[in-house]
Amino acid sequence: MSKQLILALSKGRILDETLPLLADAGIEPAEDLGKSRKLLFDTNLPDVKLVVIRATDVPTYVQLGAADLGVAGKDVLLEHGAAGLFEPLDLEIARCKLMTAGITGAEPAHARRRVATKFVNVARRWYAEQGIQAEVIKLYGAMELAPLMNLADEIVDIVDTGNTLRANGMEPRELIAPVSTRLVVNKAAMTMKHARIKPLLERLAQAVARRREGVAG
Ligand code: ATP
Ligand code: PRP
Repeated sequence: MSKQLILALSKGRILDETLPLLADAGIEPAEDLGKSRKLLFDTNLPDVKLVVIRATDVPTYVQLGAADLGVAGKDVLLEHGAAGLFEPLDLEIARCKLMTAGITGAEPAHARRRVATKFVNVARRWYAEQGIQAEVIKLYGAMELAPLMNLADEIVDIVDTGNTLRANGMEPRELIAPVSTRLVVNKAAMTMKHARIKPLLERLAQAVARRREGVAG
């Protein structure tokens, strides 16, 4: 196993909130991530590199050891599954909820409910736990459209302000899980590179606490 530490970051919404935490923990990209088409970046630390990839790919990179550490939403981690991963730190950013939602005022119509979502594993598990028969339909985006187009009775999606649901005549129903962004670590790397990873985790935990105090204060 190489001495380098590779940290996989989710591009998109989480990235802008991740970088200040990393900087506070002493890790800064050697160049502006937003201005480059590159995917693999050096940092100010000679033994730490960053890869910036799709949020849904982060757990795969970390589980299979292509990256030692990763930053991903709990929603993505629940959907992927926890095999091969430790989840030692809640970064407390991008808070939202995984919820079911449906057309405002409508009763769930079908005995076997049709549920559109990109979180198919989460949805199958949750409806089974509730004892509700569900046909889960995989979509890749714009879940809120599915009930309006009679493609599904309900959706499972991220809800924050509820504005997206409201704008489409829908309402939140059941909470499946609260979501925030987590740091994940490859299980083998946690053992083999413990001396390097442990201080990094401690500095990140301190950065999270400082941010929390800043937000509260
Ligand atoms: P991909 O590009 O892989 O399809 P995505 O478009 O879902 O991913 P983003 O929209 O950047 O990716 O969201 C990344 C993460 O941010 C999600 O996994 C979730 O944890 C969190 N998130 C998504 N929507 C919201 C929101 N409205 N408010 C707060 N956090 C959110
Ligand atoms: C996310 C999510 C919901 C929306 C919820 O979409 O998929 O659609 O946010 O937030 P709200 O409750 O505050 O409206 P995002 O804005 O990231 O766009 P996306 O569909 O491209 O991921």
